[in-house]
Amino acid sequence: MSAQTANDTTVKASAASNRTGYRSFTLGSFNFSRDEYFAHITWPAKGQTMTHTASADAFLRAIMRDVAWGFFYGWVNLDDVIGTRNLYGQVELFAGRYNPAYSTKGLDLTETFDTPAIMATFKAMLDDWTNEGFDPFASPDETGKSWVGSKNGHNRGAIDRERQACKRMPGLPGDAELRRDSNGYPVNRAFADVSQDEPEIHAEPGFENEVHAMSLFAYLSRSDVTWNPSVSSVCGRSLCCPTTEEYILPIKHGNDRVEWFIQLSDELDWSIEDKQTGALRAKIKMKAGDVAAMPADIRHQGFSRKRSMLLVWENATPGLPEMYETGKLKPYPIEF
Ligand code: PHB
Ligand code: FE
Repeated sequence: MSAQTANDTTVKASAASNRTGYRSFTLGSFNFSRDEYFAHITWPAKGQTMTHTASADAFLRAIMRDVAWGFFYGWVNLDDVIGTRNLYGQVELFAGRYNPAYSTKGLDLTETFDTPAIMATFKAMLDDWTNEGFDPFASPDETGKSWVGSKNGHNRGAIDRERQACKRMPGLPGDAELRRDSNGYPVNRAFADVSQDEPEIHAEPGFENEVHAMSLFAYLSRSDVTWNPSVSSVCGRSLCCPTTEEYILPIKHGNDRVEWFIQLSDELDWSIEDKQTGALRAKIKMKAGDVAAMPADIRHQGFSRKRSMLLVWENATPGLPEMYETGKLKPYPIEF
């Protein structure tokens, strides 16, 4: 089932509930509410109200990624039932659409919103439902249990983190003060053994302001967030997006293009499912140095027992989703 909805950016929120203090939110025909432990999502289908329940911490971690990544490439499955699909300008919100238990019975719903409209509601929900002391970007070991219980304050410092943009490579003059040694991020407890040595640079005379090098391992060892690839270099349409991973990727990403993973340290397990149905297709264990191409027709979720370093390599060539959708490109990058 699919419907097109109105697109205004007014957030439709209830007054705080008397019992738990959280507000409820309406987006098109969907309703979102939370209580001490759970997020509840409802939608109409076949004359009835469908209900879905998710643990509030998992739901907030997932919504945090969807907001921070601007709905990302393709599909962001918040879990096996609810998620978003980026149409680049508009966003589909779906329930049960990619889960045959719902979709084959017509119990699913998809509605389309202008990106600013759905973004405003997701941000307001994230803000209201995140209590003081809970950081949806941190690993469970690093953040409190304050997500449990009635509404208690905010953690805007965590959820409003701005990506720092540099004008030049960190370390070069004019890099917008992104020098990691001067902005005070401590080495993460999981990376205490990572060398902080920086490479020696021998620039030809006259090129001292142009040539630079830095240790990406030392840089990543200071990352204070998990499962949050950041664009660290751009070469044409090729984006290098390193990230540090601990516990579970809070979303299942449904690819609309091929993406490559290079495991830089430690170990990461991936569960690979069919994008449309969620049927399991593969399990992958990636060790430091392993490289994998994730096809364009899958969804995937990562599991990292110890914080690890991963390089996500994205292809930002315009028009790629259409080329895969129409079969012009095969969903995998190489024919063996
Ligand atoms: C992905 O969906 O490819 C992805 C997302 C976040 C990560 C790593 C990989 O941290
Ligand atoms: Fe992905």
